[in-house]
Amino acid sequence: MHEQTKEITRIILDAAKLARQETDAEPEPELTKRAKWPIECIVGPGLEGAIACETEIGYVNGSKGWLVYRGYDIFDLCAYSNYEEVSYLLVHGAMPTDGQLKEYKKKIFQYFHMPKTLRLLTHFPIEEMTPMAALRFGTSLMRQEFTTVDKVGLQSYGSGSKLISSDEDSIAMETKPRGEERAIYEFMKNDAAPASPWNPSGIEACYHLIAGVCALTASIARMRRGLSPVAPDPELSHSGNLLYMMTGKKPTPLEERIMDVSLILHADHGMNASTFASMVVASTLSDLYLSIGSGIAALTGPLHGGANEKVIEMLREIGGAGKVDAWFADAVEKKQKIMGFGHRVYKAYDPRARVLDPLADFMSRNNAESRGMYETAKKLEKLVVAKLGSAKKIFPNVDFYSGIVYHSMSISAELFTTLFAVSRVAGWTARVQEYLLNNRIFRPRALYVGQFNKKYVPIDDRA
Ligand code: SDX
Repeated sequence: MHEQTKEITRIILDAAKLARQETDAEPEPELTKRAKWPIECIVGPGLEGAIACETEIGYVNGSKGWLVYRGYDIFDLCAYSNYEEVSYLLVHGAMPTDGQLKEYKKKIFQYFHMPKTLRLLTHFPIEEMTPMAALRFGTSLMRQEFTTVDKVGLQSYGSGSKLISSDEDSIAMETKPRGEERAIYEFMKNDAAPASPWNPSGIEACYHLIAGVCALTASIARMRRGLSPVAPDPELSHSGNLLYMMTGKKPTPLEERIMDVSLILHADHGMNASTFASMVVASTLSDLYLSIGSGIAALTGPLHGGANEKVIEMLREIGGAGKVDAWFADAVEKKQKIMGFGHRVYKAYDPRARVLDPLADFMSRNNAESRGMYETAKKLEKLVVAKLGSAKKIFPNVDFYSGIVYHSMSISAELFTTLFAVSRVAGWTARVQEYLLNNRIFRPRALYVGQFNKKYVPIDDRA
């Protein structure tokens, strides 16, 4: 293993040791056992605290700052695994054997090639779209190419079988949840749509999107600068090909390792907004491509995945470690949200920030601007944690240091959130597939606080 990549493993293991010293090692019992539905939970605005389903895919322990994928601790995965293994683990539920990994890599490499999708994409002014808008558009073009639903229409789905409304809301909303195991109405199993490589549903569609979001992100990065897409290299890893297809230059072993650790860190994170958005769309039995498109849309927001780009803008605006005090005092005065801090679930240090911080320190040593940003960030972290840490449990989250790592690799800030999507598409597709095994359309309720008994007044008589 390359000297510097060994150094990265040591940095990760040091971060793991510190994290384990500061957090005890038991999961939250009430959040890690099967439920007898319906269950009671205390729900705040924005579904805070709501429990929507059971999962075996990932666990976030907010009070201790823990992150687990299918039983594996995130620090171990970063230290010893790679994104191919981790994305396979998330989708399949077990680490691949050597043969399975070879087969998986072969499929992903095959799906990296999307000439028709890219040709369609070049017909649009990609340089005038934000990268996330272009990425979401690209996943729709991928879908057009591969699903038969648009071509032959629904009537061909099995002779005689017809679609039954899965609209369970015809049941009076006043009824208490009955805790059905699955959707009461379901589409009759259709056997008409042949499962062909080019009509990937289920696992094949997951592979197609895990490869496609990566290849699209890299191609969009080039097309926005007037450059043509670059074909992948069979010798490179997923993260290596992401960088190669993006820059046209083979990454160094260190760059490949750093990107791989970042892809592992961002791959899944419980019922975050973009994962939930993907699942909501999928729960209507829409298709996986449209579900992932909604995940990309949700991730774009600066309160979610878009924060990594906003952090760099904020650090540039502060203008250096010597100006942090004044900037922070002003931000507190204005009750401004500090980008890269706070989290709905973590009320302790985000374990991903525990890894990305020392990686940003390591990577920014040879880049003056990145170094300035890192020193500004460290000073800001100290002030925020001192003022808001114990008071409001506000700590750095995954987005606070990730941008500095990417900046030190000369990746431009407007691409940062697409890199988040390149990783998170594994968690999105895995959780959609898992939820569909016991599907029930998501349909929460709202408290009606409006008026009743309003009388209609014709427009001419209205004041
Ligand atoms: C991601 O859910 C996930 O898992 C997401 C994610 C993933 O991997 O998928 O982890 C990725 O999205 C990370 C978060 C990236 N976003 C940001 O860094 C944007 C800045 N952060 C905040 O907008 C906020 O912390 C959220 C959106 C992340 C969480 O918001 P909540 O849980 O809805 O909290 P809130 O807005 O209700 O705030 C509670 C209190 C408020 O103070 P009071 O009104 O009670 O006095 O905490 C304060 C807030 O003002 N607060 C902050 C703050 N975040 C919350 N104060 C200053 N700076 C902040 N960043």
